[in-house]
Amino acid sequence: MLKVILHGSSGRMGKVLQSIISDAPDMEVVAGIDSVPDPNAGFPLFTVPSDCNADADVVIDFSNHAAVPKLLDFCSARKLPLVLCTTALTEDCLKKADEAASVIPVFRSANMSLGINILAKALKTITPTLEPSFNVEIIEKHHNKKKDSPSGTAILLADAVNSACLNKKDYIYGRHGKADECKITDLGIHAVRGGTIPGEHTVIFAGPDEVIELSHTALSGNVFAEGAVKAAAFIAGKPAGKYNMDDLIG
Ligand SMILES: NC(=O)c1ccc[n+]([C@@H]2O[C@H](COP(=O)([O-])OP(=O)(O)OC[C@H]3O[C@@H](n4cnc5c(N)ncnc54)[C@H](O)[C@@H]3O)[C@@H](O)[C@H]2O)c1
Repeated sequence: MLKVILHGSSGRMGKVLQSIISDAPDMEVVAGIDSVPDPNAGFPLFTVPSDCNADADVVIDFSNHAAVPKLLDFCSARKLPLVLCTTALTEDCLKKADEAASVIPVFRSANMSLGINILAKALKTITPTLEPSFNVEIIEKHHNKKKDSPSGTAILLADAVNSACLNKKDYIYGRHGKADECKITDLGIHAVRGGTIPGEHTVIFAGPDEVIELSHTALSGNVFAEGAVKAAAFIAGKPAGKYNMDDLIG
């Protein structure tokens, strides 16, 4: 039985994970960590990682970027593998995650869904052919409770395009106040917020007289939670190091 600590257990994704893990025959939540108490949690809940004394095999995190540095300290000290799903991490925090990966396995992806990661692979394949004459723009849509913008997934997709064209793209976040023409090296990234949209990403390749659009829609948070649960089973017992969805889906 894989023993899991949920960091961010009281949040939207924390609740989805609780539901998915309660149906899994080989996994159980042994503790939660969240600054907001949840009277319905069926496990011990701690407000800070340093108070959590539960015996566990792995930690799954969907919280807030500000909470991640302390979580990295906790996982490194306890030698606990970490599935790090929180987005909008600062450069300092990413560096700290890299340092932690010399001590523990750290699995990180801005998007844990199979579909988005396959889309990223497809972008790496088609970009070299299209990019010399097609503008690339990314539009992402999320629910009105999302705190960061653009989404970590929009950046993940932009990075997939950029890595396939010698990193020559300049990311343009919205065009308010911009009076220049759109250059072929521009990669526009645009965020839309509203209602309960779980997550939509469209990558537009706009060329002379033809347009290609590749879209992914997450119909619920389940796709991310399922990916996080698979990642947790994958990294538990693995040697220290950095892991991502490419390691999981091949
Ligand atoms: N990688 C992915 O596939 C993926 C998918 C969905 C969401 N996310 C990311 O996961 C994160 C959480 O998303 P959500 O929709 O569940 O958000 P949410 O706001 O519903 O939940 C976040 C939880 O973290 C808790 N939290 C905040 N600060 C904390 C702190 N300092 N210590 C302990 N707990 C703290 C909050 O109380 C809350 O319960 C976001 O960064 C989001 O972008 C990633």
